[in-house]
Amino acid sequence: MSVPRSEYLSTVWKDGIFANRVLFITGGAGSIGSAQTRAMVHLGADACIIGRSVEKTENAAKEIAKVRNGARVIGIGNVDVRSYDSLKAAADRCVTELGSIDYVVAGAAGNFIAPIAGLSPNAFKAVIDIDTIGTFNTIKATMPYLVESAARNPNPNDAGTTGGRFVSTSATFHYTGMPLQSHVSAAKAAIDALMGSVALEYGPFGVTANSIAPGAIEGTEGMERLASSKLDPKTRTKGVPIGRWGSVRDIADATVYVFSDAGNYINGTTLVVDGAGWRRQGAA
Ligand code: HXC
Repeated sequence: MSVPRSEYLSTVWKDGIFANRVLFITGGAGSIGSAQTRAMVHLGADACIIGRSVEKTENAAKEIAKVRNGARVIGIGNVDVRSYDSLKAAADRCVTELGSIDYVVAGAAGNFIAPIAGLSPNAFKAVIDIDTIGTFNTIKATMPYLVESAARNPNPNDAGTTGGRFVSTSATFHYTGMPLQSHVSAAKAAIDALMGSVALEYGPFGVTANSIAPGAIEGTEGMERLASSKLDPKTRTKGVPIGRWGSVRDIADATVYVFSDAGNYINGTTLVVDGAGWRRQGAA
């Protein structure tokens, strides 16, 4: 059964706004990544989903393609974002098969709950490698294509078409500090810093680069990993000020906003999508 639109995209967006555009997304088979991809494909884009597992990635691509007649969605498995060469090969294949890369989401991430005393140097490095180095590798592999896309689609232009946009996946832990998440906090802080440099270096080419920082999002692997631990949002916070947990649709809508013509002047910043939850996080 296909996923109803209400689970991945609000009704405010106009069909076809991403027609003839291609999304390249790492971690696109994950819970947040597949909602972001569904939303973009629903609104006209084709997509290339990158992941480590061949089966999971290819199955997600097939499922997501069902959201729109004629959608082309390919899954490229066996790609670890820690390997620049495998990412570069995937980006090249995406352009060969789908024609371009106009939008990129660096969504692949690694996380587990561990105190500093329980983290080996290699454990800390594993998360930095996946999140931070993986985002850098994604930038390196796709930026030449985003520059080409921005040249084809000047920002702004009369047609209201966009391209040449990069979104990384951040978090809010580093705003306050977060016990048991030192590795992720450091990795995501570095990603935010990286986006600033990309914005400055590639803004003159018309490319924008931003982070989206989700809060606690229901139904995700991240939330499952936190649940039943000392970090379980349901037990350790007084609740999100806006009165509910986030949904994958909240993140997909934010991604569509940044990639759309409405996001033309957003560059080098972090869009926090957490209902102001971070303002109550940090101390136990
Ligand atoms: C302490 C741990 C550990 C744990 C792994 N390690 N799990 N240390 N506590 N629970 C250590 C290992 O012992 C090893 O160190 C090092 O980390 C690398 O582990 P490997 O299993 O060899 O690494 P690898 O196979 O590359 O796997 C990477 C991973 C894994 C991050 C450990 O969990 C993974 O692949 N995750 C991808 C999916 C994922 O995490 N999704 C959640 C994303 S959610 P030694 O010293 O023994 O060699 C997210 C947002 C959360 O990021 C936000 C919530 C609100």
